[in-house]
Amino acid sequence: MSSQQRVGLPHTPLCDQLGIEVPIISAGMGPIAGPDLVAAVSNAGGLGVLGCTSMSTDEVRSVVRRTRDLTDRPFGVDLILPARIDQGGASVRDVAALIPDEHRATAARIAADLGVEAADEPLADRNALGTDAEAQVEVILEEGVPVFVGALGSPGFVADRFHEAGATVISIVGSTKQAVAVVKDGADVVIAQGTEGGGHTGHVGTMALLPQVLDAVDVPVVAAGGIGDGRGMAAALLMGCEAVWVGTRFLATEEAGIAGWQKAGIVAAADQSPVISRAYTGKRFRMLPNDWTQAWEEADVDPLPMPLQPVLAAMTLGGMATDQGGREGVSMNGAGNIAGLIEEVVSAAEVVRSMAAEAAELLAGASRYLP
Ligand SMILES: Cc1cc2nc3c(=O)[nH]c(=O)nc-3n(C[C@H](O)[C@H](O)[C@H](O)COP(=O)(O)O)c2cc1C
Repeated sequence: MSSQQRVGLPHTPLCDQLGIEVPIISAGMGPIAGPDLVAAVSNAGGLGVLGCTSMSTDEVRSVVRRTRDLTDRPFGVDLILPARIDQGGASVRDVAALIPDEHRATAARIAADLGVEAADEPLADRNALGTDAEAQVEVILEEGVPVFVGALGSPGFVADRFHEAGATVISIVGSTKQAVAVVKDGADVVIAQGTEGGGHTGHVGTMALLPQVLDAVDVPVVAAGGIGDGRGMAAALLMGCEAVWVGTRFLATEEAGIAGWQKAGIVAAADQSPVISRAYTGKRFRMLPNDWTQAWEEADVDPLPMPLQPVLAAMTLGGMATDQGGREGVSMNGAGNIAGLIEEVVSAAEVVRSMAAEAAELLAGASRYLP
Protein backbone atom coordinates (compact mmCIF):
# COMPACT_ATOMS: atom_id res chain seq x y z
CA MET A 1 0.00 0.00 0.00
CA SER A 2 1.47 3.40 -0.87
CA SER A 3 0.92 6.39 1.39
CA GLN A 4 -1.22 7.83 -1.42
CA GLN A 5 -3.66 4.92 -1.17
CA ARG A 6 -3.75 5.14 2.62
CA VAL A 7 -5.46 8.55 2.50
CA GLY A 8 -8.96 8.11 3.87
CA LEU A 9 -8.30 4.88 5.74
CA PRO A 10 -9.38 4.67 9.39
CA HIS A 11 -6.88 6.21 11.80
CA THR A 12 -7.34 6.67 15.56
CA PRO A 13 -5.38 8.30 18.41
CA LEU A 14 -4.14 4.81 19.34
CA CYS A 15 -2.55 4.54 15.86
CA ASP A 16 -0.44 7.61 16.71
CA GLN A 17 0.40 6.22 20.15
CA LEU A 18 1.60 2.94 18.60
CA GLY A 19 3.18 4.52 15.52
CA ILE A 20 0.98 2.63 13.04
CA GLU A 21 -1.19 3.73 10.15
CA VAL A 22 -4.38 1.66 10.37
CA PRO A 23 -5.94 0.42 13.63
CA ILE A 24 -5.59 -3.30 12.91
CA ILE A 25 -3.54 -5.46 15.26
CA SER A 26 -2.83 -9.11 14.50
CA ALA A 27 -3.31 -11.31 17.57
CA GLY A 28 -0.23 -12.76 19.26
CA MET A 29 -1.21 -16.37 18.71
CA GLY A 30 1.59 -18.49 20.09
CA PRO A 31 3.50 -19.76 18.16
CA ILE A 32 1.48 -19.27 14.97
CA ALA A 33 2.09 -15.54 14.85
CA GLY A 34 5.78 -15.68 13.94
CA PRO A 35 8.08 -13.18 12.24
CA ASP A 36 6.64 -13.66 8.74
CA LEU A 37 3.05 -12.89 9.76
CA VAL A 38 4.00 -10.12 12.17
CA ALA A 39 6.29 -8.32 9.74
CA ALA A 40 3.71 -8.61 6.95
CA VAL A 41 1.03 -6.98 9.13
CA SER A 42 3.35 -4.22 10.34
CA ASN A 43 4.66 -3.58 6.84
CA ALA A 44 1.04 -3.24 5.66
CA GLY A 45 0.45 -0.44 8.18
CA GLY A 46 -1.06 -2.41 11.08
CA LEU A 47 0.64 -3.74 14.20
CA GLY A 48 1.87 -7.32 14.13
CA VAL A 49 2.23 -9.06 17.49
CA LEU A 50 4.46 -12.11 17.99
CA GLY A 51 2.97 -15.02 19.96
CA CYS A 52 5.86 -16.00 22.24
CA THR A 53 4.12 -17.84 25.06
CA SER A 54 5.48 -21.32 24.42
CA MET A 55 9.01 -20.17 23.57
CA SER A 56 12.25 -20.42 25.48
CA THR A 57 14.05 -17.14 26.17
CA ASP A 58 16.48 -17.88 23.33
CA GLU A 59 13.58 -18.44 20.96
CA VAL A 60 11.92 -15.19 22.06
CA ARG A 61 15.13 -13.30 21.32
CA SER A 62 15.54 -15.03 17.99
CA VAL A 63 11.99 -14.32 16.72
CA VAL A 64 12.18 -10.69 17.85
CA ARG A 65 15.46 -10.24 15.96
CA ARG A 66 14.15 -12.06 12.90
CA THR A 67 11.10 -9.77 12.88
CA ARG A 68 13.40 -6.72 13.06
CA ASP A 69 15.19 -8.06 9.98
CA LEU A 70 11.88 -8.16 8.13
CA THR A 71 10.38 -4.81 9.16
CA ASP A 72 11.46 -1.46 10.49
CA ARG A 73 7.90 -0.74 11.67
CA PRO A 74 6.65 -1.19 15.27
CA PHE A 75 5.52 -4.64 16.41
CA GLY A 76 4.67 -6.27 19.72
CA VAL A 77 5.16 -9.44 21.74
CA ASP A 78 2.36 -11.39 23.43
CA LEU A 79 2.71 -13.70 26.43
CA ILE A 80 0.19 -15.70 28.41
CA LEU A 81 0.75 -14.64 32.01
CA PRO A 82 0.23 -16.98 34.96
CA ALA A 83 -2.40 -16.08 37.53
CA ARG A 84 0.38 -15.93 40.15
CA ILE A 85 3.84 -14.88 39.12
CA ASP A 86 5.48 -17.03 41.83
CA GLN A 87 4.97 -20.06 39.55
CA GLY A 88 8.16 -18.93 37.81
CA GLY A 89 10.40 -21.26 35.91
CA ALA A 90 8.73 -24.68 36.35
CA SER A 91 10.03 -27.05 33.67
CA VAL A 92 7.82 -29.43 31.75
CA ARG A 93 9.51 -32.24 33.70
CA ASP A 94 8.66 -30.57 37.07
CA VAL A 95 5.07 -30.07 36.01
CA ALA A 96 4.75 -33.58 34.58
CA ALA A 97 5.73 -34.97 37.99
CA LEU A 98 2.64 -33.33 39.50
CA ILE A 99 0.20 -35.04 37.14
CA PRO A 100 -1.94 -37.65 38.93
CA ASP A 101 -1.57 -41.28 37.77
CA GLU A 102 -5.23 -41.42 36.74
CA HIS A 103 -4.71 -38.54 34.29
CA ARG A 104 -1.49 -40.05 33.00
CA ALA A 105 -3.32 -43.32 32.30
CA THR A 106 -6.08 -41.47 30.45
CA ALA A 107 -3.53 -39.57 28.37
CA ALA A 108 -1.73 -42.82 27.51
CA ARG A 109 -5.03 -44.40 26.46
CA ILE A 110 -5.99 -41.41 24.29
CA ALA A 111 -2.52 -41.36 22.69
CA ALA A 112 -2.73 -45.10 21.93
CA ASP A 113 -6.25 -44.81 20.49
CA LEU A 114 -5.15 -41.96 18.23
CA GLY A 115 -1.89 -43.64 17.24
CA VAL A 116 0.26 -40.95 18.83
CA GLU A 117 3.81 -41.78 19.88
CA ALA A 118 5.11 -40.06 23.01
CA ALA A 119 7.89 -37.65 22.07
CA ASP A 120 8.30 -35.71 25.25
CA GLU A 121 11.89 -36.22 26.40
CA PRO A 122 13.66 -33.65 24.21
CA LEU A 123 11.44 -30.89 25.53
CA ALA A 124 11.29 -31.90 29.17
CA ASP A 125 13.67 -29.11 30.22
CA ARG A 126 11.57 -26.45 28.52
CA ASN A 127 9.54 -24.27 30.83
CA ALA A 128 5.86 -25.14 31.04
CA LEU A 129 3.25 -22.89 29.43
CA GLY A 130 2.88 -19.57 31.24
CA THR A 131 5.47 -20.32 33.95
CA ASP A 132 8.41 -18.58 32.29
CA ALA A 133 6.89 -15.13 31.88
CA GLU A 134 9.40 -13.32 34.10
CA ALA A 135 12.42 -14.55 32.13
CA GLN A 136 10.67 -13.98 28.80
CA VAL A 137 9.84 -10.42 29.87
CA GLU A 138 13.51 -9.72 30.59
CA VAL A 139 14.35 -10.62 26.98
CA ILE A 140 11.52 -8.50 25.60
CA LEU A 141 12.80 -5.54 27.65
CA GLU A 142 16.41 -6.14 26.61
CA GLU A 143 15.37 -6.25 22.96
CA GLY A 144 13.47 -2.95 23.27
CA VAL A 145 10.17 -4.22 21.86
CA PRO A 146 7.78 -1.22 21.88
CA VAL A 147 4.52 -3.07 22.67
CA PHE A 148 3.90 -5.78 25.28
CA VAL A 149 0.61 -7.70 25.30
CA GLY A 150 -0.35 -9.91 28.24
CA ALA A 151 -3.18 -12.44 28.25
CA LEU A 152 -4.97 -14.20 31.14
CA GLY A 153 -2.97 -12.93 34.16
CA SER A 154 -2.35 -9.28 35.04
CA PRO A 155 0.67 -7.40 33.60
CA GLY A 156 1.00 -5.58 36.96
CA PHE A 157 4.32 -7.25 37.85
CA VAL A 158 6.06 -5.68 34.82
CA ALA A 159 4.02 -2.63 33.85
CA ASP A 160 6.41 -0.15 35.52
CA ARG A 161 9.45 -1.67 33.84
CA PHE A 162 7.85 -1.45 30.40
CA HIS A 163 6.77 2.12 31.08
CA GLU A 164 10.31 3.07 32.12
CA ALA A 165 11.47 1.60 28.80
CA GLY A 166 8.89 3.72 26.94
CA ALA A 167 6.83 0.69 25.86
CA THR A 168 3.05 0.36 25.76
CA VAL A 169 1.43 -2.29 27.97
CA ILE A 170 -1.69 -3.92 26.60
CA SER A 171 -3.86 -6.44 28.41
CA ILE A 172 -6.48 -8.85 27.02
CA VAL A 173 -9.66 -9.24 29.07
CA GLY A 174 -12.96 -11.07 28.75
CA SER A 175 -15.04 -9.12 31.28
CA THR A 176 -15.56 -5.58 32.52
CA LYS A 177 -14.30 -6.52 35.98
CA GLN A 178 -11.00 -7.75 34.51
CA ALA A 179 -10.71 -4.58 32.42
CA VAL A 180 -10.95 -2.38 35.51
CA ALA A 181 -8.43 -4.58 37.35
CA VAL A 182 -5.73 -4.55 34.65
CA VAL A 183 -5.99 -0.79 34.16
CA LYS A 184 -5.50 -0.39 37.93
CA ASP A 185 -2.43 -2.64 37.56
CA GLY A 186 -0.92 -0.40 34.86
CA ALA A 187 -2.30 -1.50 31.47
CA ASP A 188 -2.24 1.43 29.01
CA VAL A 189 -4.66 -0.21 26.59
CA VAL A 190 -7.29 -2.93 27.05
CA ILE A 191 -8.23 -5.52 24.45
CA ALA A 192 -11.80 -6.65 25.19
CA GLN A 193 -12.31 -10.10 23.65
CA GLY A 194 -15.80 -11.53 23.33
CA THR A 195 -16.56 -15.20 23.77
CA GLU A 196 -16.82 -15.81 20.01
CA GLY A 197 -13.07 -15.31 19.65
CA GLY A 198 -10.64 -18.14 18.97
CA GLY A 199 -8.32 -19.39 21.70
CA HIS A 200 -8.88 -18.74 25.41
CA THR A 201 -12.28 -17.26 25.84
CA GLY A 202 -14.71 -15.91 28.40
CA HIS A 203 -18.48 -15.91 28.60
CA VAL A 204 -19.58 -12.47 27.36
CA GLY A 205 -20.24 -11.78 23.67
CA THR A 206 -18.28 -9.04 21.91
CA MET A 207 -21.36 -6.86 21.27
CA ALA A 208 -22.25 -6.82 24.96
CA LEU A 209 -18.70 -6.60 26.26
CA LEU A 210 -17.39 -3.63 24.26
CA PRO A 211 -19.75 -0.85 25.43
CA GLN A 212 -19.45 -1.97 29.04
CA VAL A 213 -15.65 -1.98 28.95
CA LEU A 214 -15.66 1.35 27.10
CA ASP A 215 -17.76 2.83 29.91
CA ALA A 216 -15.67 1.28 32.68
CA VAL A 217 -12.11 2.32 31.75
CA ASP A 218 -10.50 5.56 30.65
CA VAL A 219 -7.79 4.02 28.46
CA PRO A 220 -8.13 3.08 24.77
CA VAL A 221 -10.16 -0.08 24.18
CA VAL A 222 -9.39 -2.49 21.34
CA ALA A 223 -12.18 -4.77 20.10
CA ALA A 224 -11.61 -8.51 19.67
CA GLY A 225 -13.59 -11.67 19.10
CA GLY A 226 -15.36 -12.30 15.82
CA ILE A 227 -13.84 -9.48 13.77
CA GLY A 228 -12.96 -10.77 10.32
CA ASP A 229 -13.69 -8.01 7.84
CA GLY A 230 -14.32 -4.28 7.50
CA ARG A 231 -17.88 -4.60 8.79
CA GLY A 232 -16.77 -5.82 12.21
CA MET A 233 -13.99 -3.25 12.24
CA ALA A 234 -16.30 -0.35 11.36
CA ALA A 235 -18.80 -1.41 14.04
CA ALA A 236 -16.06 -1.52 16.68
CA LEU A 237 -14.70 1.91 15.72
CA LEU A 238 -18.20 3.42 15.68
CA MET A 239 -18.75 2.07 19.17
CA GLY A 240 -15.69 3.95 20.37
CA CYS A 241 -12.95 1.32 20.17
CA GLU A 242 -9.62 2.57 18.85
CA ALA A 243 -8.48 -0.58 17.05
CA VAL A 244 -9.34 -4.21 16.35
CA TRP A 245 -7.34 -7.26 17.50
CA VAL A 246 -7.79 -10.02 14.96
CA GLY A 247 -6.86 -13.68 15.37
CA THR A 248 -8.85 -16.20 13.32
CA ARG A 249 -8.84 -14.14 10.09
CA PHE A 250 -5.02 -14.05 10.18
CA LEU A 251 -4.84 -17.85 10.60
CA ALA A 252 -6.01 -18.26 7.01
CA THR A 253 -3.16 -16.22 5.58
CA GLU A 254 -0.12 -17.29 3.61
CA GLU A 255 2.21 -16.18 6.41
CA ALA A 256 0.47 -17.87 9.38
CA GLY A 257 2.58 -20.59 11.00
CA ILE A 258 0.12 -23.47 10.73
CA ALA A 259 -0.13 -26.35 8.27
CA GLY A 260 -2.00 -26.02 4.98
CA TRP A 261 -4.63 -28.52 6.13
CA GLN A 262 -5.26 -26.38 9.22
CA LYS A 263 -5.81 -23.32 7.03
CA ALA A 264 -8.14 -25.42 4.85
CA GLY A 265 -10.05 -26.36 8.02
CA ILE A 266 -10.67 -22.69 8.78
CA VAL A 267 -11.87 -22.05 5.23
CA ALA A 268 -14.21 -25.07 5.40
CA ALA A 269 -15.61 -24.17 8.86
CA ALA A 270 -19.09 -22.79 9.43
CA ASP A 271 -20.02 -20.24 12.09
CA GLN A 272 -21.08 -22.92 14.60
CA SER A 273 -18.14 -25.25 13.89
CA PRO A 274 -15.74 -24.13 16.66
CA VAL A 275 -16.34 -25.64 20.10
CA ILE A 276 -15.08 -24.73 23.54
CA SER A 277 -12.75 -27.36 24.97
CA ARG A 278 -10.57 -27.38 28.08
CA ALA A 279 -8.37 -30.16 26.64
CA TYR A 280 -5.52 -27.93 25.55
CA THR A 281 -4.74 -25.74 28.57
CA GLY A 282 -7.36 -26.61 31.18
CA LYS A 283 -9.07 -23.30 30.46
CA ARG A 284 -11.91 -22.66 28.04
CA PHE A 285 -10.35 -22.52 24.57
CA ARG A 286 -12.32 -22.14 21.34
CA MET A 287 -11.13 -24.50 18.60
CA LEU A 288 -12.33 -26.65 15.73
CA PRO A 289 -13.41 -30.14 16.85
CA ASN A 290 -11.59 -33.27 15.69
CA ASP A 291 -10.79 -36.78 16.92
CA TRP A 292 -8.48 -35.33 19.56
CA THR A 293 -11.03 -32.94 21.10
CA GLN A 294 -13.61 -35.73 20.95
CA ALA A 295 -11.28 -38.13 22.80
CA TRP A 296 -10.85 -35.61 25.60
CA GLU A 297 -14.58 -34.90 25.62
CA GLU A 298 -15.20 -38.61 26.28
CA ALA A 299 -12.29 -39.02 28.73
CA ASP A 300 -12.99 -40.43 32.18
CA VAL A 301 -11.14 -37.55 33.90
CA ASP A 302 -11.65 -33.79 33.83
CA PRO A 303 -8.86 -31.64 32.42
CA LEU A 304 -6.36 -30.37 35.01
CA PRO A 305 -5.68 -26.68 35.70
CA MET A 306 -2.84 -24.73 34.04
CA PRO A 307 0.07 -25.38 33.82
CA LEU A 308 -0.62 -29.12 34.24
CA GLN A 309 -3.11 -29.64 31.41
CA PRO A 310 -0.86 -28.22 28.64
CA VAL A 311 1.74 -30.84 29.58
CA LEU A 312 -0.87 -33.59 29.73
CA ALA A 313 -2.40 -32.45 26.44
CA ALA A 314 1.01 -32.51 24.80
CA MET A 315 1.36 -36.17 25.80
CA THR A 316 -1.69 -36.85 23.62
CA LEU A 317 -0.54 -34.64 20.74
CA GLY A 318 2.80 -36.32 20.18
CA GLY A 319 5.14 -33.85 21.87
CA MET A 320 5.65 -31.85 25.01
CA ALA A 321 5.78 -28.60 23.11
CA THR A 322 2.65 -26.53 22.78
CA ASP A 323 3.45 -26.08 19.12
CA GLN A 324 0.76 -26.20 16.48
CA GLY A 325 2.17 -29.48 15.21
CA GLY A 326 0.35 -32.76 15.07
CA ARG A 327 -1.49 -34.19 12.13
CA GLU A 328 -4.99 -33.97 10.79
CA GLY A 329 -7.39 -35.18 13.45
CA VAL A 330 -4.75 -35.04 16.19
CA SER A 331 -3.97 -31.37 16.66
CA MET A 332 -5.20 -28.27 18.39
CA ASN A 333 -6.91 -26.08 15.81
CA GLY A 334 -7.84 -22.90 17.62
CA ALA A 335 -10.43 -20.82 15.77
CA GLY A 336 -13.31 -18.47 16.52
CA ASN A 337 -16.87 -18.33 15.17
CA ILE A 338 -15.84 -15.85 12.47
CA ALA A 339 -14.15 -18.81 10.72
CA GLY A 340 -17.43 -19.33 8.85
CA LEU A 341 -16.89 -16.01 7.06
CA ILE A 342 -13.45 -16.89 5.76
CA GLU A 343 -13.49 -18.23 2.21
CA GLU A 344 -9.88 -18.23 1.13
CA VAL A 345 -6.28 -18.09 2.22
CA VAL A 346 -4.84 -14.71 1.26
CA SER A 347 -1.77 -12.69 2.21
CA ALA A 348 -1.74 -10.89 5.56
CA ALA A 349 -1.27 -7.58 3.73
CA GLU A 350 -4.47 -8.30 1.79
CA VAL A 351 -6.36 -8.85 5.06
CA VAL A 352 -5.13 -5.50 6.39
CA ARG A 353 -5.80 -3.70 3.11
CA SER A 354 -9.30 -5.07 2.50
CA MET A 355 -10.42 -4.74 6.12
CA ALA A 356 -9.26 -1.12 6.36
CA ALA A 357 -10.72 -0.17 2.97
CA GLU A 358 -14.11 -1.76 3.70
CA ALA A 359 -14.27 -0.15 7.14
CA ALA A 360 -13.42 3.25 5.64
CA GLU A 361 -16.22 2.93 3.11
CA LEU A 362 -18.75 1.95 5.77
CA LEU A 363 -17.67 4.67 8.18
CA ALA A 364 -17.91 7.25 5.40
CA GLY A 365 -21.47 6.13 4.67
CA ALA A 366 -22.53 5.78 8.30
CA SER A 367 -24.65 8.90 8.24
CA ARG A 368 -27.03 7.46 5.64
CA TYR A 369 -29.58 6.42 8.24
CA LEU A 370 -29.78 9.92 9.66
CA PRO A 371 -32.62 12.13 8.39
C1 LIG B 1 -4.99 -20.68 17.44
C2 LIG B 1 -5.06 -19.54 18.39
C3 LIG B 1 -4.03 -19.36 19.31
C4 LIG B 1 -4.08 -18.30 20.20
N1 LIG B 1 -3.03 -18.10 21.06
C5 LIG B 1 -3.01 -16.99 21.84
C6 LIG B 1 -1.87 -16.68 22.64
O1 LIG B 1 -0.87 -17.41 22.65
N2 LIG B 1 -1.90 -15.54 23.38
C7 LIG B 1 -2.98 -14.70 23.36
O2 LIG B 1 -2.94 -13.66 24.02
N3 LIG B 1 -4.08 -14.98 22.62
C8 LIG B 1 -4.10 -16.09 21.86
N4 LIG B 1 -5.20 -16.35 21.09
C9 LIG B 1 -6.37 -15.45 21.16
C10 LIG B 1 -6.17 -14.25 20.23
O3 LIG B 1 -5.16 -13.43 20.77
C11 LIG B 1 -7.41 -13.38 20.03
O4 LIG B 1 -7.81 -12.80 21.25
C12 LIG B 1 -8.60 -14.05 19.35
O5 LIG B 1 -8.17 -14.88 18.30
C13 LIG B 1 -9.54 -12.97 18.84
O6 LIG B 1 -10.72 -13.50 18.31
P1 LIG B 1 -10.89 -13.94 16.76
O7 LIG B 1 -10.20 -15.25 16.67
O8 LIG B 1 -12.36 -14.04 16.58
O9 LIG B 1 -10.26 -12.88 15.90
C14 LIG B 1 -5.19 -17.40 20.19
C15 LIG B 1 -6.21 -17.59 19.26
C16 LIG B 1 -6.15 -18.63 18.36
C17 LIG B 1 -7.26 -18.77 17.35
